Amino acid sequence: MICKDQIIFPEIPLNDYQHYCNPVMPVVGIDDLAMYIPKLYIDYKDFAEARGINPQKLEYGIGIKKMAIADTNQDSACMAANACIKLMQKNHLHPEDIGRIYVATESSLDESKAMNSFVIGMLEQIYGDCSFEHAGGIECKFACVSGSYALYDNANWIRAEENNGQAAIVVVSDIAKYDIGSTGEYTQGAGAVALLVKENPRLLAFDPKVPSTTIKNEYDFYRPFGKETPLVNGSYSNLLYLISVRKAFDAYKEKAIKTGLIQLKDGESITDHIDFFAVHLPYRKMGEKALAYLLRHEWRYLPRWKHVIKEVGMSEPQPKDPRGTIESILADTEFMKADEQFRRAFMQTSFYNEVYEKKMASSLEASAIIGNLYTASMYMGLRSMLEFEFKKGTDLEQKRIGFGSYGSGSSAMVFSGTVQSQYKEVVSKMDLDSEIGPRQKLTMEEYERLHRNERGFNDSIIQAHKEFVLVRVGGNTAEKAGLRVYNYVS
Ligand code: COA
Repeated sequence: MICKDQIIFPEIPLNDYQHYCNPVMPVVGIDDLAMYIPKLYIDYKDFAEARGINPQKLEYGIGIKKMAIADTNQDSACMAANACIKLMQKNHLHPEDIGRIYVATESSLDESKAMNSFVIGMLEQIYGDCSFEHAGGIECKFACVSGSYALYDNANWIRAEENNGQAAIVVVSDIAKYDIGSTGEYTQGAGAVALLVKENPRLLAFDPKVPSTTIKNEYDFYRPFGKETPLVNGSYSNLLYLISVRKAFDAYKEKAIKTGLIQLKDGESITDHIDFFAVHLPYRKMGEKALAYLLRHEWRYLPRWKHVIKEVGMSEPQPKDPRGTIESILADTEFMKADEQFRRAFMQTSFYNEVYEKKMASSLEASAIIGNLYTASMYMGLRSMLEFEFKKGTDLEQKRIGFGSYGSGSSAMVFSGTVQSQYKEVVSKMDLDSEIGPRQKLTMEEYERLHRNERGFNDSIIQAHKEFVLVRVGGNTAEKAGLRVYNYVS
């Protein structure tokens, strides 16, 4: 058979064409992951009392019990390096096994110098000078979605066989810090997740040819240069997240059907073919809402919808202008109120709850005790799902996980992967409590002093042990302004 590409590139020999047209694509995905969470936290009850909020709002309305807080000597770079070193040590990896280190973050430390260069510098304190000089990588930014783009790019680097047998590490690391007294303050957190991306992974193989994205210039959440905390339009960002992920999901669905990855029978929804959902988690409750939004969208035109509506007890409200902008929909207060009522009732139905309990709940466990990790939050969710499903005795082999990643500003990416046969080797060793380690509860006074940066680097609350910490920023001369020095405390 003559392939059509032969007409375009007639100088390529047939054998190479056959390979080009019908390549055996390497199976690529996540082999393992490691998490680093700072050892300080604030408790939701203390927080609620200090801010005059009903603690039930935090526990049930937001879904937070503990928020991880970075110490004075911790930043996004040293948390990234700490997650990386954990990943390398537990997998007995050496620098020559790694061809790329990407860091995705929205807690950038320098306008020019990439965060992965700091991370390489720290790792070389352990593995020796220049031990990573053969490797490449960049810092990636697009609010909370950039880690997913980094994973996608690195998976394709391996699929293109440019990796010379090496693996990539993608680290997602962030400190979610909002203004004191703002509504974002109870959606804070800090931590990093390092993901090992390689051929024939033990954990999860990405489904090829289906990742789908959407992008738009938006101002739902942004942090201008020099500002430590973001400017946020909370309700706008919530709705934009839902709409963006839904649009990317529509594109994913089209590709999944076209490529034959998923075959739909009459009356079926593509959500029936996804065994677990891991979505961006600025806070636990947002995951629940994202699932509700997606299921409503996917089920609305299916025969099952009439049974859903019967259980909801009201018909689905329509905005005055269904083709309106997000602003016009938010301004349609009558619709927004009715839609909230519908959403809450929908989330009480047996239809929603069956999917939620089976396909999402386990991914939200870690979020409730760690908080918002921006870029890392969805991967913390994946980590949480794998561990808690395994502990429940669920057989995860060949199960499909669908990912809904969102970054303000704004872009969404939807992709999927299937759990691989060797997953137990990795997942059976997962234990969230021991991975986080012993933690110290902060008083609200201590937390606020930390928030206002009133303590110096050398005045940390916790004595670091076996981890990288920040020891100095800047030097005595103008040329050394902004220079950051990190040490490994053994
Ligand atoms: N008991 C139980 N639940 C309660 C409660 C109580 N006593 N009081 C309020 N709640 C519920 C509300 O009903 C609401 O639930 P719902 O979402 O099911 O409607 C929930 O708590 C949140 O309260 P609400 O007043 O609607 O929001 P808020 O002003 O606290 O702000 C955010 C919430 C998320 C908008 C805000 O924290 C924020 O701006 N965060 C940063 C941006 C962000 O994370 N965006 C997400 C997309 S990236």
